[in-house]
Amino acid sequence: MAEHVEIMLTEDEVDNRIREIGEQISKDYAGKMVHLICVLKGGSFFMTELAKRITVPVSLDFMSVSSYGGSTKSSGVVRIVKDLDEPLEGKDVLVVEDIVDSGRTLSYLLDMLRDRKPASVKLCTLLDKPDRRVVDVNVDYTGFQIPDEFVVGYGLDYDQKYRNLPYIGVVRFD
Ligand code: IMP
Ligand code: MG
Repeated sequence: MAEHVEIMLTEDEVDNRIREIGEQISKDYAGKMVHLICVLKGGSFFMTELAKRITVPVSLDFMSVSSYGGSTKSSGVVRIVKDLDEPLEGKDVLVVEDIVDSGRTLSYLLDMLRDRKPASVKLCTLLDKPDRRVVDVNVDYTGFQIPDEFVVGYGLDYDQKYRNLPYIGVVRFD
């Protein structure tokens, strides 16, 4: 099936919002070090841009979980594909995600991370689709709340395509 992408949020809008969130996080974590956890692959673009806007000391780690295959519907099945390299004990953890949709992935992940005894765990997402929520998840920092549309760009993919778009777009099927 052919598809095309329509812009929903421009590169400037996304960059400006990331700068604002970075400032807020820098205030909230004043005097602390924040340990950013990137959920691959989607969270990677947002995480690196956000990290550059945070002025308190930052450390980073990466994990990968599987939720979506080639379709646009969540399977609800969450599997750890790549675990973190570092222990979380005593750290102020901030999970950085591309999008919270049903909330299934994050809910599972946050429970698992809390079991590792960090000092705190917060969640930061670039996008939130609240209309789609199935499992309750507390989001501490949100870039944009968006309507129930399938979006790509800034790390988000459709069938592994479009992650490199510097804006957020909606996939339209022709
Ligand atoms: P959840 O478990 O349903 O909240 O799904 C979260 C994951 O599904 C995200 O991290 C994305 O990888 C993927 N996802 C959800 N909505 C979209 C979308 O609109 N475009 C691309 N990926 C999405
Ligand atoms: Mg993701």
